Amino acid sequence: HTANEGSFKWSAPSNIALVKYWGKKENQIPANPSISFTLNNCKTITTLDFQKKDNDTQFSFDLFFEGQPKESFRPKIEKFFQRIAAYLPFLSDYHFTIHTENTFPHSSGIASSASGMAALAMNLMSVERLLNPDMTDDYFYKKASFLARLGSGSACRSVKGSIVVWGEHEQTEHSADLFGVPLLDAVHPIFENYQDTILLVDKGEKQVSSTVGHNLMHGHPYATQRFAQAHHNLSKVKEALRNGNTELFINVVESEALTLHAMMMTSMPYFILMKPNTLQIINKIWEFRAATGIPVCFTLDAGANVHVLYPERDSVKILEFIKNELVAYCQNSQYLCDILGKGAVQY
Ligand code: PMV
Repeated sequence: HTANEGSFKWSAPSNIALVKYWGKKENQIPANPSISFTLNNCKTITTLDFQKKDNDTQFSFDLFFEGQPKESFRPKIEKFFQRIAAYLPFLSDYHFTIHTENTFPHSSGIASSASGMAALAMNLMSVERLLNPDMTDDYFYKKASFLARLGSGSACRSVKGSIVVWGEHEQTEHSADLFGVPLLDAVHPIFENYQDTILLVDKGEKQVSSTVGHNLMHGHPYATQRFAQAHHNLSKVKEALRNGNTELFINVVESEALTLHAMMMTSMPYFILMKPNTLQIINKIWEFRAATGIPVCFTLDAGANVHVLYPERDSVKILEFIKNELVAYCQNSQYLCDILGKGAVQY
């Protein structure tokens, strides 16, 4: 099959890890398995136009972010193309025009690499499928996740929903280092439509790139223990999800967030990525939970923003609590309401 030109459009959501991926081996292989909630509202929408070109010696693409040419994204995409070229032989046959936009505010401190790389991987797989129409859906999505992983590790968890495992885990069937797989276990109804309200505490540039961060786990004094712990915590999160055990869920998820930050605080060089307001919010959540018994908890990425996780049935009370007590700690009072989602969507 050949195609001279065409266009595809996909969106892919962000995801929030419950058990964190922190540390990797060669070729974007994770040092430990992780599990995440796929989000719904925070996403990247990407259009990929492709046009056959004469020379097939190198990659050629133009990049637009929210309608404007975006040269600063070029090195990341260039590197991504180099990594995936061996798996997508058509890559150097076409000139690509990439138009991309996020539904969340620019420089909100929300990492767009997961949603962005996943959306681009979906589009590239659509070209691949156009040229090889016989591929199965299963192959299509697995390879999309495989490619997304090579762009940004956590991006492989954004292809599908609503709960995804990435990394070989002895107690999770079909789990793999090379791509994310949706959790197939039945999940207790309390975790259906689970809510994630993201409090934007600090919208500044990341202090530590995740590439640098992952590398700090090489030779880290606690690395071996940490990687073993992630395996145990993944089993516990799955048990909590299955049984509707919110107490176990909260214990593991909050411990994972603090452990991620503890790894950064104890690496060399060391970093503190939380801000004073991050701690204020955590303490407020703990007070509220003790006072009301509502199973709300927090998690963190490699930054100061706080993800507040809670069941849909408690939404009204939690949103009231957030508005009355937590918004004061957000930069420009900004927060984003999200919910479990189903993964990438083609337009
Ligand atoms: O996908 P990367 O390389 O940007 O790493 C992301 C790592 C964390 O967000 C901190 C944790 C995770 O599992 O998503």
